Amino acid sequence: MSAHGTPIPMTSRKAAGLRGVANVPGDKSISHRSLILGALSVGETRITGLLEGDDVLDTGRAMEAFGAEVINHGGGAWSVHGVGVGGFAEPTQVIDCGNSGTGVRLIMGAMATSPITATFTGDASLNGRPMGRVTVPLALFGTQSVGRAEGRLPMTIVGAADPVPVRYTVPVPSAQVKSAVLFAGLNAPGETVVIEKEATRDHTERMFAGFGAEITVEDTDEGRVITLVGQPELRPQEITVPRDPSSAAFPVCAALIVEGSDVLVPNIGLNPTRAGLFTTLREMGADLEYENLREEGGEPVADLRAKFSPNLKGIEVPPERAASMIDEYPVLSVVASFATGQTMMRGVRELRVKESDRIDAMAKGLRAAGISVDEGEDWWAVTGRGHGDVPGGATVESRLDHRIAMSFLVMGMATENPMTVDDAGPVATSFPIFEPLMAELGAQITRSNQ
Ligand code: S3P
Repeated sequence: MSAHGTPIPMTSRKAAGLRGVANVPGDKSISHRSLILGALSVGETRITGLLEGDDVLDTGRAMEAFGAEVINHGGGAWSVHGVGVGGFAEPTQVIDCGNSGTGVRLIMGAMATSPITATFTGDASLNGRPMGRVTVPLALFGTQSVGRAEGRLPMTIVGAADPVPVRYTVPVPSAQVKSAVLFAGLNAPGETVVIEKEATRDHTERMFAGFGAEITVEDTDEGRVITLVGQPELRPQEITVPRDPSSAAFPVCAALIVEGSDVLVPNIGLNPTRAGLFTTLREMGADLEYENLREEGGEPVADLRAKFSPNLKGIEVPPERAASMIDEYPVLSVVASFATGQTMMRGVRELRVKESDRIDAMAKGLRAAGISVDEGEDWWAVTGRGHGDVPGGATVESRLDHRIAMSFLVMGMATENPMTVDDAGPVATSFPIFEPLMAELGAQITRSNQ
C-alpha cells in the first residue's frame, strides 16, 4: 500500500530491450545501521548515499524519538547528532517501524540495555512477524518484553537497568538477531559473545569496528564467534553508503531475461555475505560481468554489466549460500522461470518469515503465470520454460512485500502476456525510484489507472 493506505496496482508488459545505466539506491542494511550507530555516538555522524526509503526513514524517526537529532540535508546527505551508548531517552510515543523487520529488531536491541521502556508497532506485515527470536536473547541481558501471542508486535520492551553480558548462539541464520544482541551488548558491561553457525551479513561487525568498538571475529569449529567489549565510547563517523546489491538484483535480473538488453549497474558492494545471487546467476549461464572491480572502504565493489542471456540453465543452489542471497530468492525464481530445467533452492526456511511467506507468495504467482513450482517447508523448485515461452498474464498479490512486487514486475517485462501486481506501494520501503529507473531503461510499467 502507499503511505496513505491506498493500493497502487501496476502492470508490466513485455519490453523491447533494457538499455542504459541503473543507479540503484543506497544499501538498506547499512543505512539502518548508520542511523542507529550515529545515534549511539556522541557528536555528529555524516551520512551520504542514505537510502531514503520508508523503512530507513522510520528508523530515522525512531532515533529522534530516543533523543538523537536527525537532519536531512537533501540529496541523500544526512547527519545524526547522537546521544552516546547508554544515552537513549525514553520515547513518549509508540515507535512505528512500518514494514521493517531490520528496523524494529535492531532498535529493540539498541534500547534493551538502557533503563527505559518503549512500545513498538508496525504495519500488518511486520505485526505478523516473529519477535521472539530477538526477545529471547534480550531477556538474557535482563530485558523484559510483553507482546501479543507468539511474540508478535505491538510489543513493549522494558530495558535492563543493570544489564549483564551475554553469550548466545543464534539458532537461526539471521543477521537481524545477531545484530540485536550485539547492539544490546554495547551497553552491557564486560564481553558479549555471539556465535553464528552460518555466516550472515556482517555489516554490524564491520561498522561497530569503524565506530571504534572493540569487536573481534574468530572462525572456530563452533562457528563464527563474535566478541564485543561493552560500554565503548563510539566515535561519530563519515559514512558513504554503498549501493544496495539487493536492489541491483532487479535491473540485473530484468536485463538477463529481456531480449536485447545491456544494462550497467555501477558501484555495487560485493561483500561476500551479500553477493550470492550474482554467483548463482553466473552458474546459470548469465552474461553478467564485474567491471572495474575495486576495493572501497574495505569492501569489494564493482560495476555490474548484465546482458540478455538466452541460454540460462536451471541449477541446484548450494544451501550454504542461502544467507548471502536470502532477499534475492524471489527474483531468482523469476530468472529460473526463463531458464531451461529445474532450479532447486534448499535450506531456505527463513523465506517463510520475511515481509511475507516468500515461498508461498512467489509459488502462487509463478503458477498463475504458467510456471511449475514444487515446495516443502524449507525448499522450493522452479521448472523453467526457457526464453520466449513463459505465458504470464496473471494478477498477483504483493502481500505488503516490496520484493514480491518488484519480482513480478520484472517477470512481466519478459512474459508473453502482461503481469499485474495488486499493490506496488510497498516498493517505496526499499527502492522508491524503482518505477522511473526501470522506465528509463525501457521497461513498460503502468499504473492500472493509466
Ligand atoms: C537484514 C537481514 C536479513 C534480510 C533483511 C536485512 C539486515 O534478515 O532479510 O532484509 O539488515 O540485518 P534476517 O536477519 O531475518 O535474515
